[in-house]
Amino acid sequence: MQRFLDEIAEHARLSPEKGQVARYIPQLAKIDPDQFGICVSTADGACYVAGDADVPFSIQSVSKVFALAMALGHAGDSLWSRVGREPSGSAFDSIVLLEREQGVPRNPFINAGALVTTDSYLDMSAPKEALGGLLHFIRAAAGDDDIHINATVARSELATGHRNFAMAHYLASCDNLNNDVDKVLGTYCHQCAIEMSCRQLAMAGRFLIDAPGMPRLLSADRSRRIAALMMTCGHYDGSGDFAFRVGLPGKSGVGGGILVAAPGKASIAVWSPGLNQYGNSKLGTEAMEAFARMTGWSVFG
Ligand code: DON
Repeated sequence: MQRFLDEIAEHARLSPEKGQVARYIPQLAKIDPDQFGICVSTADGACYVAGDADVPFSIQSVSKVFALAMALGHAGDSLWSRVGREPSGSAFDSIVLLEREQGVPRNPFINAGALVTTDSYLDMSAPKEALGGLLHFIRAAAGDDDIHINATVARSELATGHRNFAMAHYLASCDNLNNDVDKVLGTYCHQCAIEMSCRQLAMAGRFLIDAPGMPRLLSADRSRRIAALMMTCGHYDGSGDFAFRVGLPGKSGVGGGILVAAPGKASIAVWSPGLNQYGNSKLGTEAMEAFARMTGWSVFG
């Protein structure tokens, strides 16, 4: 395993095409694209790392996996009357789909759907408490208390996130938000601004892989279903491509992180800030494709 990761990190380091860092969130536009980290936390308790695996990065939409777990904990299956479970085939911040579907977002991983899951776990409490609950969940999953929100990144997105504001107000106009719109947006932007290293993220993802000895924070059934949504929706309009190339459920973020679950085997986190045309990590996707080929791991047998 260590040899695989060293080879993948070296390949990434030498790669001339690293993709474009996200520019629409000013704080993310400043990140050095020349970074790459990977961590594999295996079901037998081992942890393998290569590259910049201990450098914290903005997890952005990877947070939607933990937010969904929290929202399901709050609302149970009634959440599914407010948000769908189908791939969108559209960009993560598409507005047009929301109007067509009368305020019920396609899935909990596109931004509109994630605003609904945030609204659900916010559940009339103060944003500080709700975010405290989310951080508590993530820290418990990772077995690491040193996981925090970068308030500068959150403010940077709050100052410029006009599309998310538009979507949140549209959701409110369709009666699909229970909390004050500004509270939902503030909580969502802070949730996205959580920073974790690959090591912390791979550790935190262990609750998804359903293996003996892994932290059991949700029922096995629920973890499996979150992984199913990661496979079908976790990379937005690039989800089919990721499933084809990697064959494992994954959730990406515009900070360049990807959390991947290899059921029964390992939780994997990879990070490289440059993005491909879908807004998913370019080298991260390529690294996961190489990793799946090397290990032969796939949910398709
Ligand atoms: O809401 C946004 O646009 C960002 N906070 C998160 C988007 C994101 O990470 C999409 N992922 N690839």
